[in-house]
Amino acid sequence: MRFSFKRSGKTLTFVALIAAIAGSSTLAVRAQQSQTVTQGVYTQQQAVRGQTIYMERCSSCHSESLAGGLGPPLTGDDFIQYWGKEPLSELANKIKATMPQKEPGTLTGQQTADIVAYMLQTGKLSPGRIELSADEAVLKQITWPAGNAAPAKPPLSAGQISSFPPAGNLTQVMRGILFPSSNIVFTAQTVDPGAPRVVPEGADRVSGFNWVIWSSDIYTGWEFIDYAAVSLAESAPLMLTPGRRCENGKPVPIDDPDWIKFTMELAEAGKAVYKASQTRNQETVSDASNQLNDACFNCHEVYRDHPERVMRAEDPSNKAARCTK
Ligand code: HEC
Ligand code: HEC
Repeated sequence: MRFSFKRSGKTLTFVALIAAIAGSSTLAVRAQQSQTVTQGVYTQQQAVRGQTIYMERCSSCHSESLAGGLGPPLTGDDFIQYWGKEPLSELANKIKATMPQKEPGTLTGQQTADIVAYMLQTGKLSPGRIELSADEAVLKQITWPAGNAAPAKPPLSAGQISSFPPAGNLTQVMRGILFPSSNIVFTAQTVDPGAPRVVPEGADRVSGFNWVIWSSDIYTGWEFIDYAAVSLAESAPLMLTPGRRCENGKPVPIDDPDWIKFTMELAEAGKAVYKASQTRNQETVSDASNQLNDACFNCHEVYRDHPERVMRAEDPSNKAARCTK
């Protein structure tokens, strides 16, 4: 009893100490609370350092002028519209954790802050006398002018569900929902969904991330086809979500009649595959999967990898021109 009392006493002291430290740093941070990016939150010299890093590590995708290319623009109204709703720490975290896209996690906090300083400078925000800190707590206190704050949203009613804001860009929706689901359907072209499961020898030794390791045998093969077909049909409205951007930052062309037509084709193809799957006949599903393939292809041909544009563009993958006709 006495022992445990002593222990908890020690813990208390420790907690009190932490509280004191936290208290003092809160005070330091509070001094900065009212800062916005317009108040000279970086130095000229820091922006110069940031520019050097940017040109080396970022400009290949976001262009030398930050106007965007393979990746979205990092300056301009749309960019500020999007990031201006959040404290500067969000932008810095996005960069530090996920950029450069092929080498995430290779920037130091200082380098990230320097790049953000350069981005602010490009956005015509004046420098000041104190460098932009790499400390997240400090960056959290720097916001954008009130005009950029997100407008208060009225609560959604069931009828407005279609105005649910997007959680990701179009490529992420494609890779996350359409790609795995359609691959399940296409697998029925070569493997009978009704055939008994055989675990290939050594399959339990597969290493690296594999999304079918967990739960790959919970549902039967035919059920997997059913659910994939439903998810494809149900995902069609996601093509029309207002406010979604493509990976290169361009808005998804949701008002374009062709885009809407291709979206309808996707919904129809999903339903057709579902209907075919309900027959539990591999041949029937295999035929319906061609309709699905066409639905993906028809839209991609225009908006993703139009052959003429692929030829014209310097980058063979031509991502900068995606989502335009
Ligand atoms: C290989 C190409 C590539 C490189 C190099 C690259 N990016 Fe990106 N970046 C992208 C793509 C694609 C996206 C959109 C997908 C995403 O948000 O992850 C993106 C998104 C971003 C975003 C979010 C923009 C927005 O409006 O959502 C920021 C900020 C950003 N990059 C900054 C940087 C910085 C800073 C560097 C250099 C340190 C860098 N990127 C290097 C491809 C790249
Ligand atoms: C209404 C038009 C449309 C339809 C239908 C469509 N896509 Fe896409 N898809 C696009 C566009 C545009 C992009 C490029 C997105 C971007 O850059 O953000 C894309 C990108 C992709 C990507 C990412 C490519 C990459 O660079 O890694 C995959 C995978 C994909 N689509 C799969 C599919 C599949 C599978 C289907 C059919 C089940 C499908 N898509 C149907 C328009 C469409």
